[in-house]
Amino acid sequence: MTIILDYSLRLLVTLTLILSSLVFIEGTGAQSGYLPKDEVDALREIAEQLGKRDWDFSLNPCDGNPNWATPMRAEMPLYTNTLNCSCSFPDNVCHVVSISLKGQDLDGVLPPSLAKLPHIKYIALFRNYLNGTIPSEWASTKLEYLSVGVNLLSGRIPTYLGNITSLIYVSLESNMFYGAIPAELGKLESLASLILNANNLSGELPMELNNLIKLQELRLSSNNFTGKFPSLETWSHLEKLEIQGSGLEGPIPESFSFLRI
Ligand SMILES: *[C@@H]1O[C@H](CO)[C@@H](O)[C@H](O)[C@H]1NC(C)=O
Ligand SMILES: *[C@@H]1O[C@H](CO)[C@@H](O)[C@H](O)[C@H]1NC(C)=O
Ligand SMILES: *[C@@H]1O[C@H](CO)[C@@H](O)[C@H](O)[C@H]1NC(C)=O
Ligand SMILES: *[C@@H]1O[C@H](CO)[C@@H](O)[C@H](O)[C@H]1NC(C)=O
Ligand SMILES: *[C@@H]1O[C@H](CO)[C@@H](O)[C@H](O)[C@H]1NC(C)=O
Repeated sequence: MTIILDYSLRLLVTLTLILSSLVFIEGTGAQSGYLPKDEVDALREIAEQLGKRDWDFSLNPCDGNPNWATPMRAEMPLYTNTLNCSCSFPDNVCHVVSISLKGQDLDGVLPPSLAKLPHIKYIALFRNYLNGTIPSEWASTKLEYLSVGVNLLSGRIPTYLGNITSLIYVSLESNMFYGAIPAELGKLESLASLILNANNLSGELPMELNNLIKLQELRLSSNNFTGKFPSLETWSHLEKLEIQGSGLEGPIPESFSFLRI
């Protein structure tokens, strides 16, 4: 009996060793990509600017370790702590493509050094304590998704936001932006979502917003706009519209009935 047990134990140990070395090989395969030094340095600056103190630079930001890519918990969708890389570049080179840090108590500013990540497409910094405004450096990025809602951002919405023509999603909700929506936002021709509710925006909506022909979602509630609601004629894809307490005067135009709301 003892002999059999001893034998199976050894077999188990051997199997475990083989299996774990297999897992190890597979693991190193997945993490063979590396981030260029320029991008690691940019991440150090970004951490400093955001007030992010727990990124561990002794680890590879692109190997999927939980320090850099904390698995999202389905029951806590408002909290994320994930950086994603794309490692499908030649010579094992990775690039940072997305950063999502929601509800992380960050108390710095929107990081100007984000523009030093040449492949960044997605930034979500929802629900932190970031102040200041959108940095002018971001104007040169190819961002598609920009979510900086529920922070302490202030000032006018910068006109150079209109330079990021790759944008599909913009949320500035629940900050302290004031003044008029800049006409330059009409240059964002790929934009599907524009979420500006709960700020201190005023003035009339610029006519140029009619150029946003791909718009599906427009949220303007809880602001202090003046003037009439726009004709909606060019927004044939609009599915979600929120204008309670926006200050805009009706009537909601005839064309509204064509919308799939
Ligand atoms: C980042 O990667 C995780 C895991 O692969 C994925 O679930 C998540 O959607 C990605 N996030 C972005 C913004 O690409
Ligand atoms: C942002 O917060 C910091 C620290 O509290 C403060 O020194 C700075 O003046 C604030 N900036 C703006 C634009 O509010
Ligand atoms: C935005 O684009 C305009 C027109 O091309 C350019 O003059 C301006 O310098 C850009 N702004 C920034 C902050 O890059
Ligand atoms: C809202 O903006 C106006 C200027 O448009 C300013 O006078 C007012 O103080 C702002 N209110 C808040 C609560 O920031
Ligand atoms: C909206 O702005 C007007 C002046 O432009 C001001 O009298 C009013 O208090 C503002 N309302 C809010 C909710 O900020």
